[in-house]
Amino acid sequence: MNAQNARNAQNAQPNAARAAEAAEAAEAAEAAEAAEAAPDGASPSSLADLESRAAAHRARPAYGHDALIACDRLVRIFSADGVEVQALQGLDLLVGEGELMAVVGASGSGKSTLLNILAGLDVPSAGAAKVAGCDLLAMDGKERLRYRREVVGFVWQQTARNLLPYLTAAQNVALPMQLRGRGARKERAARAGELLGMLGLGDARDRRPGQLSGGQQQRVAIAVALANDPSVLLADEPTGELDSATAEQIFAAFRTANQELGTTMVIVTHDQTVANEVRRTVAIRDGRTASEVLRRTEVDASGQESLVAREYAMVDRAGRLQLPQNYVEALGIRHRVMLELEQDHIGVWPDDNGTADTDAE
Ligand SMILES: Nc1ncnc2c1ncn2[C@@H]1O[C@H](COP(=O)(O)OP(=O)(O)OP(=O)(O)O)[C@@H](O)[C@H]1O
Ligand SMILES: [Mg+2]
Repeated sequence: MNAQNARNAQNAQPNAARAAEAAEAAEAAEAAEAAEAAPDGASPSSLADLESRAAAHRARPAYGHDALIACDRLVRIFSADGVEVQALQGLDLLVGEGELMAVVGASGSGKSTLLNILAGLDVPSAGAAKVAGCDLLAMDGKERLRYRREVVGFVWQQTARNLLPYLTAAQNVALPMQLRGRGARKERAARAGELLGMLGLGDARDRRPGQLSGGQQQRVAIAVALANDPSVLLADEPTGELDSATAEQIFAAFRTANQELGTTMVIVTHDQTVANEVRRTVAIRDGRTASEVLRRTEVDASGQESLVAREYAMVDRAGRLQLPQNYVEALGIRHRVMLELEQDHIGVWPDDNGTADTDAE
């Protein structure tokens, strides 16, 4: 890296410690340049060069520094009756502010475990998790309570779990604001009315959950979760108890809230039609993020708009990626593959000695 690049790296880093490191890098790089330019033909100082590269590497922004949700090698181990279950096995996930994304995966893949950690209801065994600047591993009891009240909102699958049966829809929505000590009764009622109106429930405000359909109850639950204007809304199978037409209405409610309020949303679902309605779907396999589908609108030459979906495999920071199970099976891949770096892609071939090796084991 030359001195100018090192200075650019420094400029990109507001953090004082990192800036100091980058400054060191710049000095080292200048020293290296000076040595290179030495008139007596002295050889370039490779040590200074190495030092500058190492310093520049340290000066890179931290993983997920600009994401609202950053899970870094998250591990959660449960022990039950002396048996350990690794529900999360080094899961990486970044979610940007304002995103509406779905998480999918087989039963037992770790989806609820992840959501409970993000909700501040459970603590990971290892790794790091940050949401809206809060370190989920370092919070004490008081901070955790504040986090759950103010930073995140949660919608559960069971409609009955989201609402108090003896309160009206509007009272249910006002309750989290009251618990937080927010505003006067009138203001809370006004905000509850606004949220219910936004989600198409203006007529239902004075009805109790028992007088509402399952789909209406879930939309009230979204309003409850949004009451304190959280940075993040988390939902675990919010449409799991509903038919597909009602599920679509619920998803429309999430989208409306995401667009109107800009709230970041992470929604666990097994409902493929629902997953088709978001721009980003992350699939979890065996406690890790394995692949991701991104959808975007493309306009063809005739001006016709169409939604294009593309599936990507995730690459972790150590460079590991998970091959799709059907590809592995199709080529009979077992322990090893051969890799070849091409100009714009990497070729992956099954190891033709693999069978013999495995048989010999
Ligand atoms: N409290 C617990 N004690 C022991 N094991 C647990 C606990 N909670 C979850 N597990 C185990 O961790 C793994 C992941 O569970 P999790 O509930 O996160 O899966 P999931 O992806 O949400 O599944 P589903 O789609 O069925 O809801 C499973 O093997 C599960 O049995
Ligand atoms: Mg679950």
